[in-house]
Amino acid sequence: MYAKFHSIGAYVPSKVLSNADLEKMVDTSDEWILKRTGISERRIASKDENTSDMATKASKLAIKRAGLETSDIDLVVCATVTPDYFNMPATACIVSDKLGIKNVQAFDIASACSGFVYALSIAKAFVESGMKKHVLIIGAEKFSSIVDYTDRTTCILFGDGAGAAVISATDNKEEAFIDIHASADGSYADFLVTPAPGSVNPLSQKVLDEGLNFVQMKGNETFKLAVKTLTKDVKDILAKNGILAEDIPHFVPHQANYRIIKAVGDSLKMTKEQVVVTVGKYGNTSAASIPMAINDIWESGRLKKGELMLLDTFGGGLTWASALLPFAGESK
Ligand code: UT7
Repeated sequence: MYAKFHSIGAYVPSKVLSNADLEKMVDTSDEWILKRTGISERRIASKDENTSDMATKASKLAIKRAGLETSDIDLVVCATVTPDYFNMPATACIVSDKLGIKNVQAFDIASACSGFVYALSIAKAFVESGMKKHVLIIGAEKFSSIVDYTDRTTCILFGDGAGAAVISATDNKEEAFIDIHASADGSYADFLVTPAPGSVNPLSQKVLDEGLNFVQMKGNETFKLAVKTLTKDVKDILAKNGILAEDIPHFVPHQANYRIIKAVGDSLKMTKEQVVVTVGKYGNTSAASIPMAINDIWESGRLKKGELMLLDTFGGGLTWASALLPFAGESK
C-alpha cells in the first residue's frame, strides 16, 4: 500500500495587516520590511476566530476536493504551535468535533514551521502500514496570538491562516509519495522560543510582566542556518532519488523570508516559474505556510494532477524537513 497526496484546501482570515499599518505601531518602514523579507502584508484572525475555526474551514475544502465525506476520515493530525488551548484538548480533537468526525484518533504535533511536512510523514507511515486509509492533515496557526506587536523584530514577519490536505491509500505507485526527510536538532532550541506558558514557566504575573508568552527569535542566526540547512536538505533528497532540480515544476519552500527562498532556489538554479512564493501576501504562517502555498497554486490552476512537488521547511525546535511527491488530486 502507498500513500498519495489526494487534495488540498486552505483558509485565510479577511483582515489584512499591511506594512503601512505596522509603520504606525513600531519603528519600521515598508521599505525595510520589503527589502529584508519580501513581505507586503499578512492576514490576522479576528478575536473570536480560533485556530480550530480556520483549520475546520481549510479541512472542509480538502475533504470535499478529495471527493470524500467526513465519515471517510480515519485519522486527524493538526500541526500547530498556536493551539486553541495550551495544552489540552488537542486542536485536532476540536476540529474533528466541528467537522462531525466521531470516534477517530486525533492529535496535535508541535513542530513549528516544519509541522505540515512532519504531519505528511506521519500520514505516510499510517497509510503505508495499512492502519489508516484517509488521513486529514492540517497546518493551522493563529500566530498573532503569540506575537508582541511592540517588537519590530518579530511582528513584521508573522500572519495567521490554515491549510489542510487529505492523504489517502493507493495501490498505484505512479501517484505515491516518493520520499520524505524530517529531522531536528534541539541544541538550537533557543533560536525560536515562546518561553511561557509551560512547565518551565507556568503562567504567573512575572510571565505577563516580562512578556514571556510571546515568540522570541534569534533572527539573523536562524536566517543563516535556514539557508544552509534547507539548501543541503533539498540537494540530498533530489540526489537520493535521482531527480534533477530542473525536473521539479513546483518547488514549495516554507514561506519565512523571500531572501531565504531566493537563496535556496538560486542554489538549485531554479527558474522563477518553478519556485512558489506567497510570503509577500501572507507573511510567515508557520505550519500553515506550505499547505497555503500549495492551495494557492492549485486554485490558480498552476498545479495539475500528477505534477511533482518538492517541499522544504525549517523552523523552531530546530526542525527541518523536505518531501518529494506528485500531486495526486484532480486539477482545478
Ligand atoms: O519560520 C521559522 C524560521 N524563521 C526564519 O527563518 C526567520 C529568519 N530571519 C529573518 O528572516 C531575518 O533575520 C529578519 C527579517 C528577522 C531580520 O533581518 P536581518 O537582515 O537578519 O536583520 P538583523 O536582525 O541583522 O537586523 C539588522 C538591523 C538592526 O539594526 P542595527 O543593529 O543594524 O542598527 C535591527 O535592529 O535592522 C534592524 N531591524 C529593523 N529595522 C526596521 C530589525 N527589525 C527591524 C524592523 N524595521 N522591523
